[in-house]
Amino acid sequence: MSETVSLRGKKRTHTCGELRAKDINEVVTLNGWVDGRRDLGGMIFIDLRDRYGKTQVVFAPQHNQAVYQIAKQLRNEDVIAAVGKVERRPDGTENKSMPTGEVEVLGDDLLILNEAETPPFPIEDVIDTSEELRLKYRYLDLRRHQMQSNLQVRHRMAQTVRRYLDSLGFLEIETPFLMKSTPEGARDYLVPSRIHHGKFYALPQSPQTYKQILMVAGYDRYFQIVKCFRDEDLRADRQPEFTQIDIEMSFVLEEDIYRMAEGLVKTLFKEVKGVDITTPLPRMSYEEAMTRYGSDKPDLRFGLEIENVTELLKGSQFKVFESGIEAGNLICGMNLKGQAGVSRKQVDELTELAKSCGAAGLVYFKVGADSLDSPTAKYFSNEQLNGLRAKFSTQTGDLILVVTQPAKQIFGTLGLFRLELAKRFSLVDQDKDSLLWVTEFPLFEWSDDERRFAAMHHPFTSPKDEDVAIIDEGLAEQKTKKRWASDNPIGSVHARAYDLVWNGNEIAGGSIRIFQPGLQQKMFNCLGISEDEAQKKFGFLLEAFKYGAPPHGGIAFGFDRLVMLFTGSKSIRDVIAFPKTSSAMSLMDEAPNEVSREQLMELHLKVI
Ligand code: AMO
Repeated sequence: MSETVSLRGKKRTHTCGELRAKDINEVVTLNGWVDGRRDLGGMIFIDLRDRYGKTQVVFAPQHNQAVYQIAKQLRNEDVIAAVGKVERRPDGTENKSMPTGEVEVLGDDLLILNEAETPPFPIEDVIDTSEELRLKYRYLDLRRHQMQSNLQVRHRMAQTVRRYLDSLGFLEIETPFLMKSTPEGARDYLVPSRIHHGKFYALPQSPQTYKQILMVAGYDRYFQIVKCFRDEDLRADRQPEFTQIDIEMSFVLEEDIYRMAEGLVKTLFKEVKGVDITTPLPRMSYEEAMTRYGSDKPDLRFGLEIENVTELLKGSQFKVFESGIEAGNLICGMNLKGQAGVSRKQVDELTELAKSCGAAGLVYFKVGADSLDSPTAKYFSNEQLNGLRAKFSTQTGDLILVVTQPAKQIFGTLGLFRLELAKRFSLVDQDKDSLLWVTEFPLFEWSDDERRFAAMHHPFTSPKDEDVAIIDEGLAEQKTKKRWASDNPIGSVHARAYDLVWNGNEIAGGSIRIFQPGLQQKMFNCLGISEDEAQKKFGFLLEAFKYGAPPHGGIAFGFDRLVMLFTGSKSIRDVIAFPKTSSAMSLMDEAPNEVSREQLMELHLKVI
């Protein structure tokens, strides 16, 4: 076949999703990909596809023999131009599941614009192809309707975000990708400088410092839909480069940020899902979230709340609990409603599940009409057993599951166990949406490995006003003891930080910031960053704060996560056009790759 170098006058007049009964008798040209070919009763039926839809094109020898002969050569994924008259499909052959299903085009001319090799997997919605293959041939994967629909939703959401924030007077301002390395928590991606021997840029983990400096510069309402780069361990909801809707505001309190962010979420729900959500959204303190749900991003679409029964069960004959309590452990559990009927084998499986979540073992009580049935029941007094019923508000047929562990771990364990149980017993109401703010996070978290405190959100997050004195107290204690200890008072300082949680996913996080250089320096001291080091790393920010920094605060939404949830996708990879694998590789273009010796030389680098 001769090669075509242009559309040769066969530029499309309509897309493949456009034709309806009103177009009957019109002569049209369609351009697109061959989605499928059927030879039936001496005629050839082609489904022609583009991102707008599919249209059936029919080639009949009695209508045009020459064109029919060309159509016989067509293979899936060939790119063609088809010209013909729109006709009503014969009675009984309409396809109601296709928007164009009332009509077909009777092919009168056909140009093969490009042939395609047989694709390594079918371009269909439901395929059982490995994700690796899909990522290697991403351009084929992206032809699938599901992926095209995901990217269209992503586009619509980005436009909605821009419209909403613009209507509130926010300015979209771009910030650099090549910046100074100022670690925020994860590892930086570094870029060597050719011009400055031995020096590196870092790719931003987020535009945090820039957006704060924009506040100093007087741009009191900033936003950006922006790529962030973090060299961290990846999961289904994490990518090394991901997108944030990054927002910062001056002269605000938490309430202003909540109202603005809730308005954004409400607008997205309305426009994408057609659902009205009620605002203001509920709020829960970090402490309550951890003790009731064992997570700082609780999924409230189901109950299964954690109860602390340490006091109640103290003084029993049950050695495991008694020695646990002596060692300072807690005893906590959950009521798995209606599951008293579990078999011995199922109990063993539940025990294994609890262990995989971090528990040492699992104690259970089956709730009968007037007894609690368990191999361990005999070790507890009637008062304690009745107390358990009351604590877990049981009904006959419920199953109480209890574990003992140190206070530091037990809530995390039960939080994971709770999610696993919800999956196993289908407790999640998929039609429900649970949105909430988690507030009052601790400002610091203790690292046992490093024997020091780290910032729970980031080093620019403000402590609560009433807790600033505790920072002074903690710093004084550190000075006297000449070391940090996990029981230093700063462990109890609360942050003016907040996360937005949707169905157990952290979709946004932010804080009111420190805006005085003195307090910022104290914060660095708490994090073990000396004045010298702070000057070196963040001197530009501290310097800026000397010239009239307004009080400010902000938030950043994980845009990929939002799109994942709005499209009902299982992974953020399904809503990113060209994502990385869990080992941070791009299988299509094979990044990262080796570079030439010359390139390394230019950068004064040597791979060792
Ligand atoms: P934070 O680190 O909490 O805050 O990030 C904000 C939101 O970004 C999303 N997110 C991610 N999404 C995909 N892949 C990742 N690796 C990833 N990491 C984070 C989450 C998270 O809630 N500068 C601050 C914001 C601020 O204080 O204004 C920041 O980046 O949905």
